[in-house]
Amino acid sequence: MSNSPIKKCLFPAAGYGTRFLPVTKATPKEMLPVLTKPLIQYGVEEAVEAGITTMAIVTGRGKRAIEDHFDISYELEHQIKGTSKEPLLAEIRSLITQCTFSYTRQVEMKGLGHAILTGETLIGNEPFAVILADDLCDNGEHGILTQMVELYKKYNCSIVAIEEVPKEETFKYGVIDGKEIEEGLFQITDMVEKPDPKDAPSNLAIIGRYILTPDIFDILRETKPGKGGEIQITDALLTQAREGKVLAYKFTGRRFDCGSVDGFVAATNYFYQKSKEH
Ligand code: UTP
Repeated sequence: MSNSPIKKCLFPAAGYGTRFLPVTKATPKEMLPVLTKPLIQYGVEEAVEAGITTMAIVTGRGKRAIEDHFDISYELEHQIKGTSKEPLLAEIRSLITQCTFSYTRQVEMKGLGHAILTGETLIGNEPFAVILADDLCDNGEHGILTQMVELYKKYNCSIVAIEEVPKEETFKYGVIDGKEIEEGLFQITDMVEKPDPKDAPSNLAIIGRYILTPDIFDILRETKPGKGGEIQITDALLTQAREGKVLAYKFTGRRFDCGSVDGFVAATNYFYQKSKEH
């Protein structure tokens, strides 16, 4: 058994992925492959590396391929058993054996905060991790979620991962203000969702990795729709930061925004180069 205090990882995966139309008409964004693995598999692997084996996935209409991916395909298994192709299934088989996967559907896409609240039924009353699979992260053997679980052991509060972004790109992210309490670790004092560069409190942007304490669910229930008419996790986290403590962690590693075509191509090139080096 892992000694991680975080047992479950939530994957909000109900978004429409409009930036990838037309491919996302019938294919979930989370199933887009970087080399031979879909984005969500990289996310599950990062969670497993952090000692988490219970995966909770918030899906929506047209997302059934995700469930099929984390299941056995008997016909295929039978066809390739004993052939040279069998090793190609080794990684996914190992995930299916080690982990449990449960699913719930977000019926109306009312934003990331709403998707996280929809996951409450799978999480219950315990701290949990959140991975947005379209933010593809890599730091070799010491993943970003692993770094965050280590911090959670020390601080026992919600933690978001942040990255410095060019000031002109703040309008794409939740942006924090805070006081540095350790090198690269900030106690959040303010947060704004997708601010214009002139209104941004800093250039420290929240990326798709969170550890959340379960009081976030009650806060989300009370959170009114914010920017874009969506229920924003940023707004709920600001409430949590004002009531107690929320930390922002400048992680070590690389992050690719695979929800955008540019980020997706950069990730593909990066992982391709990496695969050639081994
Ligand atoms: P995005 O902002 O990337 O939205 O959501 P999107 O719909 O996936 O993509 P675009 O902007 O239309 O191209 C961030 C994350 O939150 C999830 C998405 O699946 C993604 O992982 N999400 C967002 C939900 O699960 N439900 C929502 O209502 C909104």
